[in-house]
Amino acid sequence: MTTTTAVPCRDAVRRSYLLCPPTYFAVEYAINPWMDPSGPVDTGAALRQWQTLRDTLRELGHQVETLPPRPRLPDMVFAANGASVVDGRVLVARFRHPERAPEAAAHRTWFRRAGYRPMAAQLPNEGQGDFLPVGGRVLAGSGPRTSAAAHREAEAALGRRVVSLRLTDPRYYHLDTALAVLSEDQVMYYPAAFTPESNRTLHALFPRAILATDQDAAVLGLNAISDGRHVLLTEAAHGLAARLHAEGFVPIGVRLPELLKAGGGPKCCALELHQAPRERP
Ligand code: ARG
Repeated sequence: MTTTTAVPCRDAVRRSYLLCPPTYFAVEYAINPWMDPSGPVDTGAALRQWQTLRDTLRELGHQVETLPPRPRLPDMVFAANGASVVDGRVLVARFRHPERAPEAAAHRTWFRRAGYRPMAAQLPNEGQGDFLPVGGRVLAGSGPRTSAAAHREAEAALGRRVVSLRLTDPRYYHLDTALAVLSEDQVMYYPAAFTPESNRTLHALFPRAILATDQDAAVLGLNAISDGRHVLLTEAAHGLAARLHAEGFVPIGVRLPELLKAGGGPKCCALELHQAPRERP
C-alpha cells in the first residue's frame, strides 16, 4: 500500500506592484555587509535583469506601476523599502541612512498622484522591507533599519495588529531578507536570523513554515515575491525551490546578480500595492 501526502492546490491572486528601474543603480556607499563600493557594477546589465523581473510579473497577470527613478539615488530600484502599503493605507518610509532618505519624497509624490493619502513616519522605518502583511496581521522586523518603536507607529497608521520580530544578523538587515510571505497562512524563513523569542513567535503562528538552510539564506533566497501560487526567487536557492515545489507552489527562478551587489533581490524591487480584500478584482 502506498500513502500519498496531499499537496494543497494553490491559487494565484492578481496583484499590483510598484517598481522603479535601476537607471541610476550603482554601489557608491556601504550600508549593509553585501555592498562593496570598490567592486565593479554593470548598470546596463542591472537594467536588463530588472526588465526580465518586470516582464515576468506582467506575464503572470500582475499589474506593474512605475516609479520614475531619480539621479543620485542608486538604491531607488529597491522600491519596496519606500513605503508600507496595507489594505490601501500608505505609510511612507523614513530611511535610516541619509544616503537613501530622499527616496521617501519620491514615494510620497507617486502615492499622492496615484490617489492615495500617504502618511509620514516619524520613526526610522524602511517600508515593506520590514513590514509584511499576512493573515490579518503585519509581520514587522526590527534591527539595523526599522526600530521596534516604529512598529507601534505603523500599527496605528496601518490599522492592523503588528507582530514584532527581532533580526540579529547584519547580513539579514530587513525582514524581507530573512522571511517571505507565501500565502495568507504560509511563510518561509531563516531561523538563525531571528532571536529565540522571535523564533517562538514564528513557530506559534506558522507551525508548518518552510525553513531555509544557511546556503539558501546566503544567496538571498528568502527575498521572494509570491502571489499565493508562483514564487519568484533567485535561481541559486535550489533547496527552497524544491521545498516550495513539494508544498504545491510554483517556484520561478530569477537572476538579479547586479542588484545582489547592493544586497537586494526580487522582493525588494517590488512594492506590493496591497489592497483591502474587498477591493481586489
Ligand atoms: N542597498 C540597499 C540598502 O541597503 C538594499 C536594499 C534591499 N532591500 C531589501 N528589502 N532587502 O538599503
